[in-house]
Amino acid sequence: MAGKPPPRLCSCFGLTAADLERIALEQGLTGVDELGEASRAGTGCRTCVPDLEKLLEALWRAHPRPAEKPVTPATIVRDAIRPFLHRSPWELHLIDVDGATVRIRAIPHGETCLTGEDTLRQFVENRLKEMYRPDAAVVFV
Ligand code: FES
Repeated sequence: MAGKPPPRLCSCFGLTAADLERIALEQGLTGVDELGEASRAGTGCRTCVPDLEKLLEALWRAHPRPAEKPVTPATIVRDAIRPFLHRSPWELHLIDVDGATVRIRAIPHGETCLTGEDTLRQFVENRLKEMYRPDAAVVFV
């Protein structure tokens, strides 16, 4: 015999507290607005918003996140750029950083073209501008 279904925390979208905790943990969501974008919770009648705030507060008190690691060009290349290149013919190695200038060796594997290299450089530079500093400039060496 099936048990009683868990109570809905957000009845507009049929979401339980367990659903919302899972989504918040998986995506690292700490704010009600972020949780709403990810799940729609709290974006209907909004009567559940105070409960969503309590849920998130209790969740992150019980699951403290490790201190933020410093963001450096090396961590950006490793964590935010290389994963997107796993099917591309390029391998990137950070050579050095001098202020806003980031020197990177881009090693092609297989067929590439100058347009591909320029597109890659622009992609890497845009990520560094977003995550490191807005005046970041990438030089392929
Ligand atoms: S109960 Fe959550 S938006 Fe209505």
